[in-house]
Amino acid sequence: MRPILVVYATRNGHTRHIAERIADRIRTLCREAQIQDARTEALPALERYSAVILAASVHLGHHEREMVKFVRARRSELGRVPTLLLSVSLTEAAAADVHRPDGERLDARRATRKALEDFVLETGWRADRAVSVAGALTDTAYGPLTRVLMQKIIHRDVPDQPARRVVFTDWAALNSEVDALVRGAAEHGATLPAAPPEPPGFSTAVVGAIPAP
Ligand SMILES: Cc1cc2nc3c(=O)[nH]c(=O)nc-3n(C[C@H](O)[C@H](O)[C@H](O)COP(=O)(O)O)c2cc1C
Repeated sequence: MRPILVVYATRNGHTRHIAERIADRIRTLCREAQIQDARTEALPALERYSAVILAASVHLGHHEREMVKFVRARRSELGRVPTLLLSVSLTEAAAADVHRPDGERLDARRATRKALEDFVLETGWRADRAVSVAGALTDTAYGPLTRVLMQKIIHRDVPDQPARRVVFTDWAALNSEVDALVRGAAEHGATLPAAPPEPPGFSTAVVGAIPAP
C-alpha cells in the first residue's frame, strides 16, 4: 500500500509533535508514513500517497499561513486522495471542557467551526473530514510579551497546574481519527495502480516504515 502523508504547520512546535504521534500510530498499524513540514517545497505528486493528513495550529483565529499556501498550491491533487484536516487550537480545549458553563463551551464550539469554515474560504478546498484538536499551552516557546500572556492564561485556565506546559490534546480521540483514515485509505488504495517511482533527489523523513505483514 502507498504511504500516508502527514503534513503539518506549526508555530510553537506542538502540531509537529501531533504529526509525529500520528506517524507513530500509522506505524503501529503496519503502514508507512511520511511526515512533512508544509513549508517544504519539494514534495512529489500527492497521488503517490494513499491518504493525506494535514495538521495546522490556529493563531489569532487563523490557521498557519504555510498550510493555507500548501493547500492552495495542491488543491486539485488533494481532491484525488482521502484527506483529514486537523485544526489545532486552544478553543477546542475550551469546547471540550465539561467543567465550563454550557454557554462558554457553545461559544468555543462556534469559534472552532468558524476557523474551519474560514479555512475552506481561504483555500477553496474542503477536506473529506475536518476535526478540531485541542492543542497545548506553554510559556517557554514564546517571546517575552506572549510568554506573560500565556502565563496568565495557564494560571487562569489551569490554576492547579504548576507545569509550564499543559497539553490538552486527547490522544485517544486522535488515534481513533487516524485509525478510521487508515481503514479508508486501505479501501481507496485497493482500487489504485502501483505508485510511480520516486523522482531522483527527493527525500522526506520516513517515520513509520514497517512493511505490511
Ligand atoms: C500568540 C498566540 C495566539 C493564539 N491564538 C489562538 C486563537 O486565536 N485561537 C485558539 O484557539 N488558540 C490560539 N492559540 C493557541 C494555539 O493554537 C495553541 O497553543 C496550539 O497548541 C499551538 O500549536 P503550535 O505549537 O503547533 O503552534 C494562540 C497561541 C498563541 C501563542
